[in-house]
Amino acid sequence: MSLTENLMIEIDGLVKTFTSAGGPSTVLKNVSLTIDEGEIFGIIGRSGAGKSTLVRCINLLERPTAGRVMVGGKEVSALSGADLRAARRGIGMIFQHFNLLSSRTVYDNAAMPLELAGMSKAEIRREVLPLLDLVGLSDKLGYYPAELSGGQKQRVGIARALASKPKVLLCDEATSALDPETTQSILALLRDINHSLNLTIVLITHEMPVIKAICDRVAVLDHGEIVEQGPVFDVFTSPRAEVTRSFVRDVIDRPLPSHLAERLKQDAPVDSNVVLRIIFTGPSAETPVIADVIRHYEVMFNILQANVEYIQAEPYGNIVVEAIGAPQAVQEAIDYIRSKDLRVEVLGHVADTRRAVA
Ligand SMILES: Nc1ncnc2c1ncn2[C@@H]1O[C@H](COP(=O)(O)OP(=O)(O)OP(=O)(O)O)[C@@H](O)[C@H]1O
Ligand SMILES: [Mg+2]
Repeated sequence: MSLTENLMIEIDGLVKTFTSAGGPSTVLKNVSLTIDEGEIFGIIGRSGAGKSTLVRCINLLERPTAGRVMVGGKEVSALSGADLRAARRGIGMIFQHFNLLSSRTVYDNAAMPLELAGMSKAEIRREVLPLLDLVGLSDKLGYYPAELSGGQKQRVGIARALASKPKVLLCDEATSALDPETTQSILALLRDINHSLNLTIVLITHEMPVIKAICDRVAVLDHGEIVEQGPVFDVFTSPRAEVTRSFVRDVIDRPLPSHLAERLKQDAPVDSNVVLRIIFTGPSAETPVIADVIRHYEVMFNILQANVEYIQAEPYGNIVVEAIGAPQAVQEAIDYIRSKDLRVEVLGHVADTRRAVA
């Protein structure tokens, strides 16, 4: 899918070592990734993983110790002086704490990059008014940051970042200071401008729901290394690295309720039933497999937990059932479900509740 001519960002063997009083520490270790034009690319990692350092290497606020950073076909890590400043103008950035100037109004904050570029007042007006309209702040032009909500402040940050018409927007924890509802509205705005301006967006976060909401692909950064990357749906539904699994668990694969987990046995006592987790994704979610099983096999399902998430508009379902039936019939049912491309995990066994009651 990633055609070379569509490449917007290419990071190759990036190493960043800081030397401080305590000696050198390597914060990014051989990071390589590519981001396509028009893509929303997520980078997720725990605190201290090196995320901010990585974005700062993309816009050259930090110099790589080794490796290459290419943006829009130019090796930014080799630029200096006026060329570097020009390249930086092509890369917008928004921050967790917005970084607005408190003494300037909404309009003047958004206009700042254009003032610095020496544009005339009339030109600036022509550029900034539509941007403030785009981010939904046309009625707040004369407000000061202190008079705005967090979400509104971030909208100013976005307008300011867009003023220099960047090809790439870097977002470092841009929604981390916002409540969930405001987060969703900012993410929706980012998706809108991604579409309408064909803007490439790099979104840094430690929150999996943010990745799930708008990213096309995601890379997982752990202790300065990319441990996993791929389309968001794939990484969500088949995480390989332990750190990825722990991120995913926050959103899907909810743990079993404790009263159920406590009853679960790994061996199979007499008169017990198997507990299965059935995962269905994409096309398999649209076939009535469970109904088929019940119709064709001597098995009944007691549903213990059920949950359907949508990732990039694709369903990811997860149900936990107690399968009631003779062992052979249950095995045939499991085989049948697997033959329909659903994933089945045997979680354990529970004493047959009906017999316990009888
Ligand atoms: N200028 C610096 N000098 C020395 N060490 C630094 C410098 N900047 C960052 N570090 C170290 O690099 C590591 C990664 O920091 P970074 O800010 O990139 O992490 P992060 O993933 O963005 O974390 P968070 O989620 O908390 O923002 C940390 O251990 C930090 O102490
Ligand atoms: Mg950071």
